[in-house]
Amino acid sequence: MLKSLPIGVFDSGLGGLTVAREIMRNLPMEKIVYFGDTARVPYGSKSGQTIKRYSRQIVRFLKTQEIKAIVVACNTATALAMDEIREEAGGLPVIGVVEPGARAACEASKSGRIGVIATRATIGSHVYSEAIQGIRSDASVIGKACPLLVPLVEEGWIHDKITDEILLRYLDELLEHDIDALILGCTHYPLLRSEIRRLIGDGIRLVNPAYETASELKRLLKEQGLDNDKLRDAGEPYPYRFYVSDEAERFAGFANSVLPVDVKNARIVPIEEF
Ligand code: DGL
Repeated sequence: MLKSLPIGVFDSGLGGLTVAREIMRNLPMEKIVYFGDTARVPYGSKSGQTIKRYSRQIVRFLKTQEIKAIVVACNTATALAMDEIREEAGGLPVIGVVEPGARAACEASKSGRIGVIATRATIGSHVYSEAIQGIRSDASVIGKACPLLVPLVEEGWIHDKITDEILLRYLDELLEHDIDALILGCTHYPLLRSEIRRLIGDGIRLVNPAYETASELKRLLKEQGLDNDKLRDAGEPYPYRFYVSDEAERFAGFANSVLPVDVKNARIVPIEEF
């Protein structure tokens, strides 16, 4: 049955687990096949051409897993490769994180002054500004690339003086523009949410595109009659499978610290062959 097939979720590495986490919380009946491109992360400092090629390979791999939809959990891949991903996906429904994030920010902002922090590639693509202005033409969007944040999160330096200083340096510039909403436009940034909140105070709404992406996925599956409405039988296999292109053990360790479920292992896929 189509309804009981898993959803393919992918990211450049570990960060997309923040999106998988929201899907698990919001759509507990759905199965997930997650792919993290841990051998080739980060995407945020790579060219559009490379990100498109990598994304196509990942979609080709996911299609071997009998999935019913694809969630592009990576902001950078959503920003630069959505057309290629859709083309490769054939008829499968595809959702990225940018449109849902933009919508949530438009709802969160009163003044229409919206900040976006993301990787260099995402900011350079202007996708968030375009998506926001498509919804709210009076909005002004101030983007800031924060390339040092991904390695800091990957290193586990979340509650750290150095991370605070770097965050402040990036955020100060945005705060000068008097924003009232800030999009965490990179999969890793929700993991820095409390630090960011502490540094910017309570007056600015923080927008995590992962929440809205999970809600959008729920709507889309229902609309297309693809939502899984059957509870898992006790004898059924574990509903979440994890694949990576490198460092499976490190990935499983990180996944265990982020996800509300126990991740026993991740399998390595030779992604260049797809
Ligand atoms: N997953 C990427 C994103 O959301 C961040 C990590 C990377 O640069 O690959 O933009």
